Amino acid sequence: MYAECMKRIGVYCSGGDAPGMNAALRAVVRVAISYQLEVYAIPSGYVGMIEGGYYPLTLRDMANIIQRGGTIIKTGRSSDFMKPEGRARAAEQLRQNNIDGLICIGGDGSFTGAHALWLEHKIPVVGVPGTIDNDIFGTDNTIGFDTAVNTALEAIDRIRDTAASHDRLFIVEVMGRNSGFIAAHVGLAGGAEEIFTPDFVTPVDQAIEKIKAGMAKGKRSSILITAEGQKPGRAYDLAEAIRKKSGFDAKVCILGHQQRGGSPTATDRILASRLGGAAVDLLRAGETDCMVGVNGENIVKVDFHTAVNTEKKLPPYYLKLASVLSL
Ligand code: F6P
Repeated sequence: MYAECMKRIGVYCSGGDAPGMNAALRAVVRVAISYQLEVYAIPSGYVGMIEGGYYPLTLRDMANIIQRGGTIIKTGRSSDFMKPEGRARAAEQLRQNNIDGLICIGGDGSFTGAHALWLEHKIPVVGVPGTIDNDIFGTDNTIGFDTAVNTALEAIDRIRDTAASHDRLFIVEVMGRNSGFIAAHVGLAGGAEEIFTPDFVTPVDQAIEKIKAGMAKGKRSSILITAEGQKPGRAYDLAEAIRKKSGFDAKVCILGHQQRGGSPTATDRILASRLGGAAVDLLRAGETDCMVGVNGENIVKVDFHTAVNTEKKLPPYYLKLASVLSL
C-alpha cells in the first residue's frame, strides 16, 4: 500500500520496555501527522492487537513524553499471538479498525511476530528496534541500550566505592537474556576485572587467577560483571563456584529491572527520534517486513528475516581490552 492509499496507521510497543520508546512513539506520531496520516495506539503490544481498544493519538498527546522512561501506550508479551489463530484474530481486529499499516517498536520477538503477520495476512509493518539488550542484527544500537548501560554504570561506580572501602570482591549481574552487550560495555566503562557474557563464558579459574594476580600487585577490591544470560541469579552460582574453588567471599548485587526504567539519555532520544521518523517514511514509501536501523551515521533498512535470523555478535576485543585495562 502506497502513500496516497495509506490513511491510518497503528503503532505499538512490544516485549520488554526500553527507555526511549516514548521518544520513538512521539517521532512516529508527529512525523505521520505531518503527512496527514491518522495514528492509532495499539495498547500493550500484541495483547491489545488481538483484544482491541485501539485509540487515536494526537500531536498534543505526545507532549512531555520525550524524557519519560517506559511507554505510555504500554507493552506486553502475548503467547496467543505466537499461534496462527491469534494472529488471525489480530488481523481481523486491525481490519475492523481500518488500520492500513503498522509501526512496531520492540525487539527480535516482536519482529518475529510482525514478520508472521505480514506473511500470513499482508498487513504492512515496519519495525523500530527498541530493547535494552542491543541484540538486534543490522543496527549498531537499539533504543534503550545506552540508557541501560549508563544506569548500570552509575550503580557500579557506587558499588566500587564500598568495595574499595571494605577491600571486597563484588559480582554485579546486569540484564541481557541472550546477550552480553550491556555486560561488556558496562565492564569496559566501569573498569571491571572480569566480564562474563552468554557468548564468551570466562572460566571461573581464569577469573580467580585474575583476582589473585591483582592481589599480588596490591589490588584489594575487584568487581566482576556478569550478564544474567538465560538465568537471572547467575551471579549467585558464580559466587558459589568462586568460593568453593578459592575461598574468596564475593558479595552479589543484581541490578535487575532498574536498568529498564528511567529517563532516556540524549543518545537514546536522538536515536529514537531518527528511527521513529524513518520508519514512517519507509511505511509511506510502500516498504514492509523490515526494520530501520543505524549503521554509522546512516539510517538503513533491514529485512525482518535477516534481523531476526542473524546473530549479532559481541566483538571479542571488548572483553580482552577490559581485562588488560583492569590489570
Ligand atoms: O529483553 C530485555 C530484557 O530486559 C532482558 O534483558 C531480560 O532478560 C528480560 O527482558 C526480562 O524480561 P521480563 O521483564 O519479562 O522479566
